[in-house]
Amino acid sequence: MEISQLTAPLVEIAADWLVVPVTDPVEITGKLAVLDTALAGSLTRLKDLGDLTGKFASTVPLRGVSGLKAARVLLVGLGKVEDLTSGRLDRALTTATRSISDKKDVKVAFAVPDAALGSVSSAQIATAATAAALTGSVGQDLYRTEKGRFPFASFQLICTSENRADVATAVSRGRIVGEAVNLARDLVNRPPQEITPVGFATRAATVAAECGLKCEIFDQPRLEKERMKSMLAVSQGSVEPPRMVILEHCGGDPGAPKLALVGKGVTFDSGGLSLKPTDGMLTMKCDMAGAATVLGAMTAIAKLKLPVNVVGYMGLVENMPSGSAFKLGDILTARNGVTIEVLNTDAEGRLVLADVLSYAVDAGASRIIDLATLTGACVVALGEDVAGAFSNDQSWCDAVLSAAKGCGEDAWQLPMWDLYDDLIKGDVGDIKNTGGRWGGAITAAKFLQRFVSGKPWVHLDIAGPAFASSNKPHREGGGTGCFVRTLLAVAEGLKP
Ligand code: BES
Ligand code: MN
Ligand code: ZN
Repeated sequence: MEISQLTAPLVEIAADWLVVPVTDPVEITGKLAVLDTALAGSLTRLKDLGDLTGKFASTVPLRGVSGLKAARVLLVGLGKVEDLTSGRLDRALTTATRSISDKKDVKVAFAVPDAALGSVSSAQIATAATAAALTGSVGQDLYRTEKGRFPFASFQLICTSENRADVATAVSRGRIVGEAVNLARDLVNRPPQEITPVGFATRAATVAAECGLKCEIFDQPRLEKERMKSMLAVSQGSVEPPRMVILEHCGGDPGAPKLALVGKGVTFDSGGLSLKPTDGMLTMKCDMAGAATVLGAMTAIAKLKLPVNVVGYMGLVENMPSGSAFKLGDILTARNGVTIEVLNTDAEGRLVLADVLSYAVDAGASRIIDLATLTGACVVALGEDVAGAFSNDQSWCDAVLSAAKGCGEDAWQLPMWDLYDDLIKGDVGDIKNTGGRWGGAITAAKFLQRFVSGKPWVHLDIAGPAFASSNKPHREGGGTGCFVRTLLAVAEGLKP
């Protein structure tokens, strides 16, 4: 998609769609008044009829207009100025871009407001619009012969000569964010026969080379050498060999703290011998969403050249039943020496993360965030749109939650009290890989905590929000790319 800035009167803009944000209540002054005059007063009439309200995420398309160089106008409501946040902005603008991406080769222009709207600057609006142009015009129909959604041919941001430089910076950021989110979505949406551990690692190596990330890939012999037997147990029933991808962005001083981002990358979770029923297995290509989020975030961190040190770790395996699969009752010795009783082979994500987390700790991580589609219990607790947050360090957790809030991504902290440790105490080994029916999201987090050696750590259980079961006006079904933005915001908030 060609993305550019332009300073010109709105009536002079040649485009298939001219997208104009409005707030509630709509005030037909300034640029909007000029547009209204060119449109022979139709904006005023729409407002008087109650059809143009500026209500949050409302869209009013005007097709076949005359008086402008643009063929169509889309008025998009941002809601009340005092309620505007960057999350609400993303939602309204993605609703707009989704609504006009059903045709091929569409040229779109977006009228950047001249000044801030409440607490949101015009540069932030330009970033959000650019990201929305990229995400809203890409669907999950990767393999459909007849596509439902088409990337815009071009996206022009109409700005003033005063804010042009700010808008240019904002646009390049928007492009980076939009592409990172789309990368995570794309990987989740691709089928598990393509995104195998090797398929994922190959793609990761390609994007790493493109954006200047250091990339190391551990194959099975290397993983064995690293004693990652908990992760390898999950992989052993599959014909697809495992991989661990390590991506490194060294933007800070060599001695500066290292942030580790760790992602669960189960490229297909059949449940293993504790086989899932069809309904539960149906969407389990999404079980590598944590790894995809980490990959997306790492590309953005690298492209923005953030002055910090960040390492991304992606533990990639396929969980399958077979004659060589790991079994119920098996005792696994994880990389850090903790012994694990396998009570359920479907509680595999924590077995993968166990070894990857301990590797990250030994590699010098000073702070850790892991992301995983870890438990159905978390979806039961918080619903499909909210991630569970778990931590051993409140101030680090607060930093991550506040970054999430700033991006409009919903995460809710759950307790990590000692009493939950009893539920995963082992009979034969140190710990068991399930804590039973109750508090399943928390006992999973408690399991992970055994592998972070007391380092400040936040676990985000994204089982709900990583994969959307249906289309909504503001987002496509399938992979969502959730928490890519949060990870980027966390990295930006680190002290250089
Ligand atoms: N990948 C699943 C969790 C999941 C469920 C992700 C729904 C996305 C949507 C995970 O590996 C799993 O199977 N967890 C089990 C744990 C149980 C066996 C203790 C679960 O949640 O049922
Ligand atoms: Mn599972
Ligand atoms: Zn899983």
